[in-house]
Amino acid sequence: MNTLLLTLSLSVLFSSLVQSGYLEYDQDVLIPDDWTHVGRVEPTEELELTFALKQQNVDLLEEKLRLVSDPDSAQYGKHLTLEEVSTLICPSDLTQKVVRGWLQSHGITNCLTVHTQDFLQCTMTAEVAETLLSGSKFHRYTRDGQTLVRSSAPYFVHDDVHQHLDFVGGLHRLPPKGLDLSKGRKLKKSAGVHLGVTPAVLRARYNMTVTDVGKAQNNSQAVAQFLEQYYSPADLAEFMSIYGRGFLHHSQVDRVVGTQGAGKAGLEASLDIEYIMSTGANISTWFFTNPGRHESQEPFLQWMVLLSNMSDLPWVHTVSYGDDEDSLSAAYMTRINTEFMKAGVRGISLLFASGDSGAGCKHLGGGKNSFRPSFPASSPYVTTVGGTSFKNPFKITYEVTDYISGGGFSNVFKMPSYQTNTVEAYLKTAASTLPPQSYYNTSGRAYPDIAALSDNYWVVSNRVPIPWVSGTSASTPVVGGMLSVINDQRLLKGLPALGFLNPRLYKLKGQALFDVTEGCHLSCLDEKVQGKGFCATPSWDPVTGWGTPNYPELQAVLLAD
Ligand SMILES: *[C@@H]1O[C@H](CO)[C@@H](O)[C@H](O)[C@H]1NC(C)=O
Ligand SMILES: *[C@@H]1O[C@H](CO)[C@@H](O)[C@H](O)[C@H]1NC(C)=O
Ligand SMILES: *[C@@H]1O[C@H](CO)[C@@H](O)[C@H](O)[C@H]1NC(C)=O
Ligand SMILES: *[C@@H]1O[C@H](CO)[C@@H](O)[C@H](O)[C@H]1NC(C)=O
Ligand SMILES: *[C@@H]1O[C@H](CO)[C@@H](O)[C@H](O)[C@H]1NC(C)=O
Repeated sequence: MNTLLLTLSLSVLFSSLVQSGYLEYDQDVLIPDDWTHVGRVEPTEELELTFALKQQNVDLLEEKLRLVSDPDSAQYGKHLTLEEVSTLICPSDLTQKVVRGWLQSHGITNCLTVHTQDFLQCTMTAEVAETLLSGSKFHRYTRDGQTLVRSSAPYFVHDDVHQHLDFVGGLHRLPPKGLDLSKGRKLKKSAGVHLGVTPAVLRARYNMTVTDVGKAQNNSQAVAQFLEQYYSPADLAEFMSIYGRGFLHHSQVDRVVGTQGAGKAGLEASLDIEYIMSTGANISTWFFTNPGRHESQEPFLQWMVLLSNMSDLPWVHTVSYGDDEDSLSAAYMTRINTEFMKAGVRGISLLFASGDSGAGCKHLGGGKNSFRPSFPASSPYVTTVGGTSFKNPFKITYEVTDYISGGGFSNVFKMPSYQTNTVEAYLKTAASTLPPQSYYNTSGRAYPDIAALSDNYWVVSNRVPIPWVSGTSASTPVVGGMLSVINDQRLLKGLPALGFLNPRLYKLKGQALFDVTEGCHLSCLDEKVQGKGFCATPSWDPVTGWGTPNYPELQAVLLAD
């Protein structure tokens, strides 16, 4: 009875918030303690905000993505150009007129748009922003020498524009925190001579031969970074001179999109670029970065906006970034998910790290807990990569779960049709060992989809080889690079790029992948689950997905048209 009442009153409250113009009533607006409040932003200071205009035909876009990504469809691989995506989804004339009129009536005329017309990036003073977006109050915060401007309170917009906007970016979401990559977790330094993961180890484990490198003229791959980090060209060159023997590779990035920051190279950035170029060897590589951004920008959103404004993009992008689903508004996640569809329908493969907290844990109060899914890992329209370790760290043998490997079920996105049979089969076979149902939502998108080694990597950072670097940030570029070499072979055969991989991946039913069947990942440290989340099983599981690539077999099955 109590619960029912609570649900009712909450939904009444939510619908009244929606009516009164809150676009993101469920967005977390609290600024975490590690950010220090500097003060109110002066009324005359300039802010840069991003307006996400309502798109048309999102349902048609979703259907189109399904068709071009399903290997059994006649439209498989018939990807759209940015131009065609634009024609399909660009906001209606009315939407554009209403939003622009609203901005102009506040004196805002300094706006940039994108090719698809569905984002506007506008500059205005804080005073104007606070009038435009009622309720907003802009403050400046600082952490580790980084400053940013955010609103301490939620915003709402006038009824007339409410239906024409998805959300406004630059008010709430914070830049991601660096992952704790260097854990030295299982093997203490005293373990001495353990193997550690290097390009040679990866290529041996996944059976990549000297000839499995890129050959096509116009193939390329990319990593995207949002951590105010940059990669160091000298570190990359040093890494390749130490670890790049035995396979043809590039030792330089071909294109940096955005401005590289100054200062020290980031470990995360070094890891991503060094490893995508080791499995995706001899392939032109781009690095998306955005230091130098405005204090009020959301770096991840900036990257998405950029993808909508570039007609010539690499086929594969790997991203090691994520937030708790419950800290983000449904409006934001839904719109970003649409942005992923826009990329997928163009034939672009987006790979995201599944996260480094296993099933995660959210404290619900009263001693109750639930698992905590992470976004974008939980989006149905990206390929999410989990992590594994060697069973025997001194030998290139088979892999078991890396207990940090992120996985679980979304509370926001429904389970997509490409995975329903697979996940239902898992829930049945694993029934007796599953955590209590109250911890997760079996109707949601389940992840990860695939995995690779994520433990004990060697990385060159600031000229020095560093061991014990771990996390799904490592496995993600490794898988990305392999998909790039497969794309390369496809392009040489005149076939379209792989694009959004999941519908095809799930149809393989684990064929061409090393199944990971041992080990569980971590979760809540409470009496009920005692730190244990889901466990790997034969076939797909929400810890390591379908398993890790056996490269030659994967290439063979993904080259068959
Ligand atoms: C998108 O690209 C166009 C043309 O290259 C440019 O004029 C515009 O400013 C870009 N938009 C944004 C938001 O950067
Ligand atoms: C690939 O690797 C596995 C395990 O390392 C090995 O058993 C197998 O023979 C290799 N070759 C092929 C073609 O699968
Ligand atoms: C490396 O890639 C280039 C194209 O970018 C190609 O011409 C060359 O043959 C490739 N090298 C090998 C060994 O495949
Ligand atoms: C394809 O090749 C052209 C000409 O060299 C280059 O300008 C373009 O950036 C390449 N595209 C990609 C996605 O690598
Ligand atoms: C479970 O997931 C569905 C979407 O698949 C969602 O509609 C529902 O609200 C979720 N339940 C909870 C308790 O989060």
